[in-house]
Amino acid sequence: MTMRKKIVAGNWKMNTLPAEGVELAKGVAAGRKDVCDCVTLIVCPPFTHLSSVIEALKGSNVEVGAQDCATETKGAYTGEVAAQMIAALGCKYVILGHSERRQYYGETSATLNKKMAEAYANNLTPIYCVGENLDEREAERHFDVVKAQIEEVVFNLTEEQFRNLVIAYEPVWAIGTGKTATAEQAQEIHAYIREVLRSKFGAAAEECPILYGGSCKPSNAGEIFAKADVDGGLIGGAALKAEDFLAIGKAF
Ligand code: 13P
Repeated sequence: MTMRKKIVAGNWKMNTLPAEGVELAKGVAAGRKDVCDCVTLIVCPPFTHLSSVIEALKGSNVEVGAQDCATETKGAYTGEVAAQMIAALGCKYVILGHSERRQYYGETSATLNKKMAEAYANNLTPIYCVGENLDEREAERHFDVVKAQIEEVVFNLTEEQFRNLVIAYEPVWAIGTGKTATAEQAQEIHAYIREVLRSKFGAAAEECPILYGGSCKPSNAGEIFAKADVDGGLIGGAALKAEDFLAIGKAF
């Protein structure tokens, strides 16, 4: 039996003004003591308040991640934020390939391969998101979609890089809709993801944390996290209230 890392990460998306973000982070830090040390808690604020949130969380045992990074290292890329800038602030994680980035900003596997390379070059741990949309689920193509998202990006990693990867399975139809995957649906596809990872990385696949995301909240987190291949959650809406986010952290 392997002891996989348990993770609850909050993706704040484009929410909170800087002062609100700092308050939220302080609220998470204040309640951290009630969440098992065995759970890694991560908050992912917008770029504009990464710095002040990191400052507010010093010494708190709450980690910080960014929500994206640039494909390039530095230079004439107006509006972009480089992985090395994020890392220099003290961020440890970066969410890559979120479905909102794939859907609204046209991110492809080619884009994501570059972002992953930048993340690793700067010692950031990517939280790589995969997941099917409603049409794909209804056509029962979800396994194939997720497999392709993994093969086209994760399979390009070295084993050493793979050992420093977190995967988040987020079905698009469950994001922000209030409609969660059932614990059984989550387990079924998480086990499948692990099988795909095993086919490439062997035993290292047993160590890879696979998080569930999509309308995860205090009332359903316990049931979902109890499943064998679910190692935590990537939380959107419920991460915007410290109390709810902490309650999800306690759901293991
Ligand atoms: P919700 O928890 O708001 O459904 O969002 C999930 C998500 O997209 C986290 O990245």
